[in-house]
Amino acid sequence: MQALWSGARASLAGNALAVAGLAAVTLLSLPGLGSGWYAALCVLLVAIWFAFAAEFVLAHAGRRRHASFVGDRAAMVDVLTIAVPLLAVLPPPGGMGRWVFCAIWILRPLREVSAFRLVLRVLSNEARNLFGVMAIFGIILFLASMLAWLVERGAQPVAFGSIPDAMWWAITTLTTTGYGDAIPQSVIGRLLAGVVMMCGIGVFALWAGILATGFSEELRRQDFTQVWQLVSGVPMFEHIPHRDLAEIVRALKPRRIPAGSTIFRKGQPGTEMFFILEGHVRVSADRPVDLGPGDFFGEMALVSGGPRLATITATTPLLLLALHISDFELLIDRDAGVAEKIRQTAEVRRQAQPGG
Ligand code: CMP
Repeated sequence: MQALWSGARASLAGNALAVAGLAAVTLLSLPGLGSGWYAALCVLLVAIWFAFAAEFVLAHAGRRRHASFVGDRAAMVDVLTIAVPLLAVLPPPGGMGRWVFCAIWILRPLREVSAFRLVLRVLSNEARNLFGVMAIFGIILFLASMLAWLVERGAQPVAFGSIPDAMWWAITTLTTTGYGDAIPQSVIGRLLAGVVMMCGIGVFALWAGILATGFSEELRRQDFTQVWQLVSGVPMFEHIPHRDLAEIVRALKPRRIPAGSTIFRKGQPGTEMFFILEGHVRVSADRPVDLGPGDFFGEMALVSGGPRLATITATTPLLLLALHISDFELLIDRDAGVAEKIRQTAEVRRQAQPGG
């Protein structure tokens, strides 16, 4: 825990230094910067570089001698944040512009942002589709530039004198940016502009759709993998073939519950049963019982269709897998062993009830 905390603090300090460095690079680009400010900002950048170098040496001192950095993304970023700013000392002396090499520090906060990793994964998963849309964009761009050149070159030889010249107009129109520096004058040219704008909107809608689907699929995949790992830790599901387990994994929802919470009360209608992954609960029956990891509860109301027979309270923080009544049948149908175990347990518990 201590190590985790100090690790989090170190990474926060590292990110703060990177942000300070980027702010210094930004200020150094101001043309009217006084020499005092210039010197102070340069000292700041050098100090940050030394801090990163010291952190790198300390962090990697214990590393195996010939261990490679390739594949260790965080270590590669560390190497880049130290190596790239060194280019500032290379000839020719570049005045204030040389400090721009320190902009590589922008990688530091990014390496820890999980959303950034998610974006990269979605881009790599959807690369084929995105390139497909890019190809459509390229085709429309070429056709629009060629037609605009054919239609407008006579009236506007500067803006539309060649296909590459007309391409600038086509890009600003396709992206619906429209700087207004090149405007078709002829009726056909304006009609063409309208069609190109519509195509641009269509292409970006396609891109947005691909990315939105990619994000939702990736998040679903991550959830599925996470729950799969949790489910495979439940002894009762160990023997279930993977094909059936996949359906059960989709039905089970992980739920964290703080210590002291009442999960449900005696007499309430039952809509879910729970498998305990971590922590303990107290079953407030006539003779109170404690249940822990590997146990389940809440099955009796689902089996009988009656109300809850006891109040359940979390005695420690809990990690549960919840199974809704609508998916309960699915679990029972998928595996006779699991169905039998749940029925038997419910029967034993029913007999333990007063008058059972
Ligand atoms: P249900 O009746 O749906 O809600 C209360 C739950 O407490 C019940 O299902 C069982 O899962 C559990 N329970 C009831 N009696 C016992 C018992 N004697 N031992 C262990 N668990 C019990």
